[in-house]
Amino acid sequence: MKLNFTETVLRDANQSLIATRMPFSDFEGILETLDKAGYYSLECWGGATFDSCLRYLNEDPWERLRKIKAKVKNTKLQMLLRGQNILGYKHYPDDVVRKFVAHSVQNGMDIFRIFDALNDFRNIDVAVDETLKQGAHAQGCICYTTSPIHNLEKYAAMGKQLEEMGVNSVCIKDMAGIMGPQEAYDLIKTLKETIKVPVFLHTHSTTGLGPITCMKAAEAGCDGIDTAISCFSGGTAQPATETLNYAMVQMGLETGLNEKVLKDINDFFKPLKTEYISSGLLDAFVMGTETDALVYQVPGGMLSNLIAQLKAQNSIDKLDEVLAETPKVRKDLGYPPLVTPMSQMVGVQAVANVLLGERYKSVSNEVKSYLKGEYGRAPGEIDAELMKKVLGDEKPITTRFAETLEPVFEKTKEELKGIAKNDEDVLSYILFPTIAEKYFRDREESKAMKVTYSIIKK
Ligand code: CO
Repeated sequence: MKLNFTETVLRDANQSLIATRMPFSDFEGILETLDKAGYYSLECWGGATFDSCLRYLNEDPWERLRKIKAKVKNTKLQMLLRGQNILGYKHYPDDVVRKFVAHSVQNGMDIFRIFDALNDFRNIDVAVDETLKQGAHAQGCICYTTSPIHNLEKYAAMGKQLEEMGVNSVCIKDMAGIMGPQEAYDLIKTLKETIKVPVFLHTHSTTGLGPITCMKAAEAGCDGIDTAISCFSGGTAQPATETLNYAMVQMGLETGLNEKVLKDINDFFKPLKTEYISSGLLDAFVMGTETDALVYQVPGGMLSNLIAQLKAQNSIDKLDEVLAETPKVRKDLGYPPLVTPMSQMVGVQAVANVLLGERYKSVSNEVKSYLKGEYGRAPGEIDAELMKKVLGDEKPITTRFAETLEPVFEKTKEELKGIAKNDEDVLSYILFPTIAEKYFRDREESKAMKVTYSIIKK
């Protein structure tokens, strides 16, 4: 039996360990080797990489994708897409979602892993539909979480619903690394008995469960797992590729991976890791095992964000209190899975509740929108008192929020005449207007400087 491996070093491991700050130039030299390892796919785009390229790395994310594609010719490229949120933090109109997916395919993307933070599949429907229309692979996600309202029957029904939408595969997305081995076994087995499309597992090593959870998932017939090359594995990132490959081969599974190539890949990334540690980009905290997440269900990225927020406000001593407040906020909000943007919303609210000394004294606009139903259906009941406190007599909406949004792509394209060079620029601008504009300006300036320089040289 074959077990597929998806390598996450360029996206999720990068995002979970070093806040997505790996510039293209740091990993350019290993792309051709990554292509030879025998991975099922290379997760290399989407998630926070797009934002990070424009905001911190002065890179055009589209250009990054094209450059990766130019060197990775055989292995499928994979991205993480937040359904109607695309790669931003709010809902975008359908025309933008479709354009984004179409241009991602044109620029080289093969597999779209698509999720909605609330598992409200109305919010991934358009992205899945467009992915299929473009002839790419649509992988529908079930965000995994534990709560009094989540159980096997519910997850099986979600799998069925995704299959009926026409997805090519289903992924269980355990962003917090809280799925235990037995839960993985039961869940994968249930899904394999319920649906025909391949089932993938995405988990994190945060709590230390990652590798054993992957083992049991494989035993239950899982079709693919996500791993990160060893020196960028563990902690808040994925379990190690080499370790899992070793174990799975021992179990009699075919992985298709080449150990020697994996060693070359790891040797390439080792000095980068040393560099990131000495610059402080890679914090020892995210590399260890954090079992508190089993109680608080805080995903890796969220934990490092909470620490950063508290450090910035000189309140790191309040971390334990904030970690205890987090599950309470989550319960009040109807048990949303803690994944972007819900993880940020819950995190910011928990910090505010603790630092202000009064619960919900301040409520962010995002939480207000959530309560209004603008993010989709909450998995469970939202606390009635909180609803009343924030919304008063206003009734939440029950339709899909994007139905209320007018198309904006053509209009924005018109507005950006002379600034945006192509449709990709327009999409970058729609997702992140302020930082994209700054990026376009910097790009022009650096081009002007290059021209001046070449004239002087002559
Ligand atoms: Co993840």
